[in-house]
Amino acid sequence: MTLAELLPSIGCSTQPVLEDGLWPDGTRVAGGDLLIGGLPVTQLAARFGTPCQVLDERTVRGRAGAFRETLPEAEVVFAGKSLPCPEVYRWVADEGLSLDVSSAGELALARAAGFPAERIVLHGNVKSSEDLKAALQYGVSRIVVDSFDEIAQLGALATHGQKVMVRVTPGVDAHTHTKIATGVEDQKFGFSLASGAALEAVLRVVEQPSLELVGLHCHIGSQVRRVASYEEAVRRMVGLIASCGTRISQLDLGGGFCAPYRPGESAFDLFGFAQRVRGTLNYECALHRVPVPRLLVEPGRSIVANAGVTLYRVCAVKRGATRTFVAVDGGMSDNPRPALYGARYAVRLIGRGGKPSPVTVVGRHCEAGDVLAEDVPLPGDVHAGDLLAVPVTGAYHHALASNYNQVCRPPVVAVAGGVARPVVRRETEEDLLRRYV
Ligand code: LLP
Repeated sequence: MTLAELLPSIGCSTQPVLEDGLWPDGTRVAGGDLLIGGLPVTQLAARFGTPCQVLDERTVRGRAGAFRETLPEAEVVFAGKSLPCPEVYRWVADEGLSLDVSSAGELALARAAGFPAERIVLHGNVKSSEDLKAALQYGVSRIVVDSFDEIAQLGALATHGQKVMVRVTPGVDAHTHTKIATGVEDQKFGFSLASGAALEAVLRVVEQPSLELVGLHCHIGSQVRRVASYEEAVRRMVGLIASCGTRISQLDLGGGFCAPYRPGESAFDLFGFAQRVRGTLNYECALHRVPVPRLLVEPGRSIVANAGVTLYRVCAVKRGATRTFVAVDGGMSDNPRPALYGARYAVRLIGRGGKPSPVTVVGRHCEAGDVLAEDVPLPGDVHAGDLLAVPVTGAYHHALASNYNQVCRPPVVAVAGGVARPVVRRETEEDLLRRYV
């Protein structure tokens, strides 16, 4: 193995090797520049400024299509919270996906996109009466209830046969970060299967004349690698279906399929998931003598994460006693994931290679924890004015962005076939001032 081959595999960014599987489909290195959707990132940075979130449309559509092709019998529901943007909702609608929303706000984006109500599912452990009313008014096809209070509240607001799924906590450990593990007992989501609350919730829904129970739902967590965790969820959920005593026609397994963030990490084994989950579902249903429900999956990250790349400009480099800090013009306001989940990213310097040395890429915010990437290799001569590209920023970046320090949020620029257009414009100081009274 040559050094150039070895360095990327251990997290090093050298020119011109591109780390496998992290970048949008079709990304390539050309003359020191990086081409995404056929466009050089240096041009994108010059035209749209930095920080800038670049989003490759072909990658989003391709991943959405792959879910449909690999799971033709299932309803594939895009988790709208991962990249809330009407244009992206239109792309996934085009690809035949449904959409899940978790608030009236996300529903407003879906409406703006003209997303068909019969393909929308509403989620959330808390739905305010505004959320529920907006959903009923738009006629979303299913609402996933998450508490006894909500069953009563929705029962009172709905007028005729609102279709409902019950969110179940199946007690499955998805082996992911605790802040995104939602299938285990003793957290705020769902009705516990083990305690009998899930069965009780089913009965309460059935008792409400204005509600129609169509399915059971679970979501075991996010950034889940193991297919076995989903198989275990299927076993438990089918056991519950068998004890419901009423026809359950849909089984929603939620999302959570992992995306690779760093060199050497692999993508989710979607094909293996389809085969193993299909097999387990058919077997368990035969065992329990219940009809096989229609499967639903709710991928978010696995569709959009690797379609996104964030461009930052280096503003300052500080060479300390033990570490070199490379400070950029964004930070935790456009990517709080390292601070929240200890997430780690690869970073690439655009325009030149060089002997790599480890640096810490930090943001511009007034927090010591505002670190974008720790201990990443960049060419030793990295300096102010350099352009950096961070891949795998398509999921939960725009969604989680904030105005901390009144820094304006970056645009999301869609690229496809050599054409770039903002689908979310850069926030301005006028936008900021508009809210203050
Ligand atoms: N379905 C439900 C009910 C969910 O709560 C979620 C994500 C999904 C589907 C989609 O999960 P995905 O396929 O995207 O993993 N902010 C965190 C992730 C939070 C996930 C919340 N729920 C992050 O940046 O990692």
